[in-house]
Amino acid sequence: MKNLVALLLLSLLYLHGTTSLAEDINSDAETLPAFCTSYKCPRYQLIKKYEKFEHRIYNATNWVTTSLKLDFLGIGLAKSFKRLLDYINGKNSEGLVMKMTVPVRIKVPRSDILSTNATMSFFVPPAVDTLPTPLNPDIYVEQLPEISVYVRSFGGYALNSDYEKQAKILVEELEALELSYNSSYGTAAGYNDPLTFFNRHNEVWYMAL
Ligand SMILES: *[C@@H]1O[C@H](CO)[C@@H](O)[C@H](O)[C@H]1NC(C)=O
Ligand SMILES: *[C@@H]1O[C@H](CO)[C@@H](O)[C@H](O)[C@H]1NC(C)=O
Ligand SMILES: *[C@@H]1O[C@H](CO)[C@@H](O)[C@H](O)[C@H]1NC(C)=O
Repeated sequence: MKNLVALLLLSLLYLHGTTSLAEDINSDAETLPAFCTSYKCPRYQLIKKYEKFEHRIYNATNWVTTSLKLDFLGIGLAKSFKRLLDYINGKNSEGLVMKMTVPVRIKVPRSDILSTNATMSFFVPPAVDTLPTPLNPDIYVEQLPEISVYVRSFGGYALNSDYEKQAKILVEELEALELSYNSSYGTAAGYNDPLTFFNRHNEVWYMAL
């Protein structure tokens, strides 16, 4: 029930968000992963496919990031989402309206599960070279260098508990194969709005070391 409330909130936010996205079809025939559907998303190089996960290298990427307070009702999730959505909908120094992208990335420190210090981010497509300054001091632009990451993908509607479960499977696999990863935080990546019923795609990541 609680999760349904969170889902509903997110779907309302997404609906609002998609109004500025009507023309966001990948018109430039870029070859982005199929699971990104019509959204821009970061490209990566597949290094190795394992049975239950894969190893990817992402080129340098930019993200807009805000703090995230995780709670059982998903209110923090909705608040952070709204903050980022406002930023891309023009609450920035230039009044620039940007298109929605995927994934929505959530980083959660493992030490700190009910966390004060989680973050939520939207991916910024490479075509946007100079990002306008956020008007909200709780939003910042993050420039990530190339990253090497272990990724486990799964389908369906993902609730917090599903991400947790899948992250656990990924960790068990990495440990069984003695692959080193940064255990200090985990990442969840969501690729669909809540009104997409089929072929949903979700991921959990750990940084490879
Ligand atoms: C990553 O960056 C390199 C060098 O800038 C470029 O040659 C390559 O095509 C990029 N890879 C992807 C997957 O975009
Ligand atoms: C959370 O963030 C605050 C402010 O950045 C910092 O002072 C604190 O140590 C962090 N807590 C954890 C558990 O990392
Ligand atoms: C793991 O990630 C944390 C948080 O980003 C970072 O401070 C730390 O240096 C990383 N550890 C290693 C071994 O790279």
